[in-house]
Amino acid sequence: MPENQKKYFYITTPIYYASANLHIGHSYCEVITDSLARYKRERGYDVFFLTGADEHGQKIAKNAANAGKDPQAFVDEVAENFKKTWGAMHISNDDFIRTTDKRHVESVQKAFSKLLKQGDIYLSKYEGWYCTPDESFWTDSQVKVNEKGVHVCPECGREVHRESEEAYFLNCKKYIPQLLKFYEDHPDFVPDGKLNEMINTFIKPGLEDLCITRTSFTWGIPVKENPKHVIYVWIDALLNYVTALGYLSDDDSRLQKYWSNDSEIVHFVGREINRFHTIYWPILLMALGLRLPDHVYVHGLLLTRSGVKLSKSLGNAPSPLPLIDRYGLDELRYYMVREVPIGEDGTFTPNQFVDRINMDLVNSYGNLLNRTLSMIKKYDDGVVPAYKEPTSANVKKAYSDLELYTNQYESEMDAYNVTKGADAAINLINVGNKLIELEAPWVLAKDPSKKEELDETMYVLAEILRIGSILLRPFLVIKADEALKQINVPEAYKKYETIRDHKGLSGVTNNEASQLFPRLDKNAETAFLADLIDTHTGEHA
Ligand code: MSP
Repeated sequence: MPENQKKYFYITTPIYYASANLHIGHSYCEVITDSLARYKRERGYDVFFLTGADEHGQKIAKNAANAGKDPQAFVDEVAENFKKTWGAMHISNDDFIRTTDKRHVESVQKAFSKLLKQGDIYLSKYEGWYCTPDESFWTDSQVKVNEKGVHVCPECGREVHRESEEAYFLNCKKYIPQLLKFYEDHPDFVPDGKLNEMINTFIKPGLEDLCITRTSFTWGIPVKENPKHVIYVWIDALLNYVTALGYLSDDDSRLQKYWSNDSEIVHFVGREINRFHTIYWPILLMALGLRLPDHVYVHGLLLTRSGVKLSKSLGNAPSPLPLIDRYGLDELRYYMVREVPIGEDGTFTPNQFVDRINMDLVNSYGNLLNRTLSMIKKYDDGVVPAYKEPTSANVKKAYSDLELYTNQYESEMDAYNVTKGADAAINLINVGNKLIELEAPWVLAKDPSKKEELDETMYVLAEILRIGSILLRPFLVIKADEALKQINVPEAYKKYETIRDHKGLSGVTNNEASQLFPRLDKNAETAFLADLIDTHTGEHA
């Protein structure tokens, strides 16, 4: 673990609405967070990685009714599918929270009672607009009117309807000064300036108290003190981050660790739910007397080629499963992490998918492994030569480049920039490809006086592959280990903490080599992907 760092690392994804099955947009967030959870484990943190399902609300009740199912049976099925999908993607979550879990329901009710008792929640009347697909309330000043004169949701553009009913409210106004002070004291709370828009749009015009219960439907957590009210799905959902840790339960040992000041807490969310996580969630935590997270990291969205968000309710997004079947899990994971600059929106593009895999995984990584193992076989009978202080200027430079890219990788990953982290790891692999060109081992092999140079070249190539594989392991959860196995890296030297100790491969006998990544046929695969995506987006050329 890096010095002066916290001991624990708590990372969460949003809990996805259990209204339908998962698609590649959700998988995108899941892969980023999973890669970071794996990275932090490699670095020695005690990590808790949470994901789950958001199972209450009007939209889910409607979907269940449309499917002719009882809501609980409906969400049970969907949650099972979520788990299967994440299993297929090797997501390493430590828990899966469902908002219909008894532990969650009880804890939410207790939190509500606590806030009610201390006067942060009060009963009044709600009048305003409601967007059912987004489960969001909007005030008169927030709602938009479209060209047909219809009131629409400012977030998704769909029609909103007028609601008026008795409801409980969360006293947000009271916490605004404290919230603004927190923002000021923690400029990294929301990286990349993604807080300014929230402050300008929602806080500056005057944040109103939030309506947090509904009486017009029943599929939600009832308020203990007044059970005709169910708790607003967003309050229910946000609390998952602490209920999963045992908040207000008989056993809150996880909370003591992962929600402590000795823990780095980070929530990953898509930009459309920034507002809930950077305004209401901190207010809720302040009211409950809990510490605030270190960061809310707002990532971009995957869009269709015409710039529309891939989304369940728009029905335009494919599942990740057919992509995994055809290309392999690591290929999909790598594409997501590397191709879409985290923090920006990205388009799922067949061309780029094929190019990225062929360029980085086939040409750079797979190829280096293949060439290195076959040269060690040819020149050294498949045994990595003993480590020696390098004499060749090219090899010396390779070692210093290794250090450079390792440092770069760590600082990017520590800043949650998986895109640049993956880039640094591939650059490190390319140090090996470049060295092969510079040293031309096939020429050295012809001259017995160059045997030492040949040996140190073979050694550093194997070492580059060892380190590169360790750095790529959070993304390539199957193939990086396969590469380490082909080199036959001793167990102790597969550990992250040994990446700066370059002496562990002396005399290692390589295992049988086999191709790590098959090359993708550009035309055939671009056509296949375009068809798969267009079937969902309706964007046939
Ligand atoms: N249930 C709420 C979250 C509650 S968290 C306390 C919700 N669910 S959701 O299923 O609609 O979306 C959850 C997250 O999925 C989004 O924030 C985003 O991170 C991710 N994505 C959904 N569509 C996406 C894309 N097209 N691209 C990238 N991420 C996407 O909101």
